[in-house]
Amino acid sequence: MVSDLILLVSWVAIARATVVYYPPAQSNINNLTFVLTGTGAPGIFNSSTTPDKNYGEYNWCNMPHVRTREYKTLSKEYTLEYVEIIQRHHKRTPYASNTFFKEDITWSCTGEGPVAYGKGPSGVSSDVTEIQWQAFEDSQNPWTTTVGPGFVGTTCQLPQITSEGIVDSHTHGSDLRSVYASRLGLGQTLNPAAVQIRVTNNVITSQVAGGLLRGLFPGTDNAAVLIQSSTFDSLEPTYSCPRANSLFNAYTSGSGNWTTHLTDAAPLYAKLDSVSGTANPDTAGWHTSFDHYYDNLSAKLCHGKTLPCSVNSSSLCVTQDEADTVFRLGNWEYSYYFRDAPDSAEYSALHYGAWFLELKAHLEAVVTGQGKVKYFHNIAHDGSVSPVLGFLQIANMVWPGMGSEVVFELYKKQNSYFLRVLWGGQPMVTSTLMGTLDLIPVETMFNYIDSMIGSSADLLAGCQS
Ligand SMILES: *[C@@H]1O[C@H](CO)[C@@H](O)[C@H](O)[C@H]1NC(C)=O
Ligand SMILES: *[C@@H]1O[C@H](CO)[C@@H](O)[C@H](O)[C@H]1NC(C)=O
Ligand SMILES: *[C@@H]1O[C@H](CO)[C@@H](O)[C@H](O)[C@H]1NC(C)=O
Ligand SMILES: *[C@@H]1O[C@H](CO)[C@@H](O)[C@H](O)[C@H]1NC(C)=O
Ligand SMILES: *[C@@H]1O[C@H](CO)[C@@H](O)[C@H](O)[C@H]1NC(C)=O
Repeated sequence: MVSDLILLVSWVAIARATVVYYPPAQSNINNLTFVLTGTGAPGIFNSSTTPDKNYGEYNWCNMPHVRTREYKTLSKEYTLEYVEIIQRHHKRTPYASNTFFKEDITWSCTGEGPVAYGKGPSGVSSDVTEIQWQAFEDSQNPWTTTVGPGFVGTTCQLPQITSEGIVDSHTHGSDLRSVYASRLGLGQTLNPAAVQIRVTNNVITSQVAGGLLRGLFPGTDNAAVLIQSSTFDSLEPTYSCPRANSLFNAYTSGSGNWTTHLTDAAPLYAKLDSVSGTANPDTAGWHTSFDHYYDNLSAKLCHGKTLPCSVNSSSLCVTQDEADTVFRLGNWEYSYYFRDAPDSAEYSALHYGAWFLELKAHLEAVVTGQGKVKYFHNIAHDGSVSPVLGFLQIANMVWPGMGSEVVFELYKKQNSYFLRVLWGGQPMVTSTLMGTLDLIPVETMFNYIDSMIGSSADLLAGCQS
């Protein structure tokens, strides 16, 4: 107890952020020469299934997560006291952010729509009927055809988690249950005093929660999940931080370090634009990053669809080599956004600091014996998992694929607490002085978080500076 008190005092004493940037490891992911001239996809992009012998490999459609087969159990002197997980949602239809992509692949979600209804006092079977959304278009509405022939007739919400993505969510929950239920003493049903589930204001995270919870707590039919206001949500995140935005803009659109890869990829862009009918330049972001093409091509492949051809010519198609190059470029971009740009560490500290303050408080509550919660599960986005990886300065950054997760495991041994952080189910390797996050003293992580953020007042002020 005495040693705990001394440690508490030492965490409180630290103030003011002093972000130190540690460059990432060199690999094919962040080697622009390889990205532009190499071959092959940086992982699996055409199926949710990874063969057991390759488990751990990057799979954009369904990233590796904790499960019994690969889980490393610690010796008996370590007891697992608390687990917090943050994951990206599972696979989905593309976003509708630019609906002028004209091509020959259609999607159908008939009978698979998201469910939306208010729960009456007595619940689903007695007070309410389950309501499913089925998107439709009516040509009498003259705006219908202006949003892109590629999608006329669709029955999908864009985006929505597909039925395959719901199955992946369920499997993810069952796999986590197989590891953590016995170790944390979790029952068949969700006990809200011990377990918290959190989502963002984007409904696709609730769609994942439905599948995940059925796997995690097979005896639970309905659950309340936590959600913060979209004006200041720390999970998505949506809180306002002008300094983070200006840092990001300076090292992307305002920097030759960023724009070079777009210029170098001009021939690829010309081909993709000729298939999709996208103008260059455009005002919807098709040429400021590879995000839109990556999302389009990968969503199709992950759902077993073919690569698209032009609506005007069935012989003008995106090739597998071109798609693979888009996937290498997309991963290069995420490595640049969150690790290679020297200001990326400060960006992640400001942009995701509020969530790390919450995480630290959850861990402190357990260490000081005040916490009752044993398991906290956050369902979020690539825009959430990425700054977690950026904040922790992971050695090898990638674009976090569908279902990717970071697990914070808090262990106790005698009177000391240790943290193991798992990425893709294995201890995360960072470029920081903390090295591999495999049973580091929890105070080391607290000190690191302090060094990145300072106090909550520092974070508020830092965002405005
Ligand atoms: C980057 O990739 C190119 C092409 O594969 C290779 O020749 C070069 O050595 C790589 N650079 C580094 C730093 O690994
Ligand atoms: C997925 O892609 C890999 C590598 O390009 C290929 O070997 C495999 O046959 C593909 N699988 C399917 C189901 O298309
Ligand atoms: C392609 O991507 C855009 C932007 O994300 C989206 O609006 C469009 O629906 C996608 N099209 C297909 C067929 O994936
Ligand atoms: C561009 O990259 C160099 C080398 O990493 C770095 O020193 C410089 O700060 C970067 N510029 C921007 C605007 O990110
Ligand atoms: C298809 O051809 C028409 C007529 O030439 C043209 O206006 C349209 O932009 C073309 N669409 C695509 C996707 O290339």
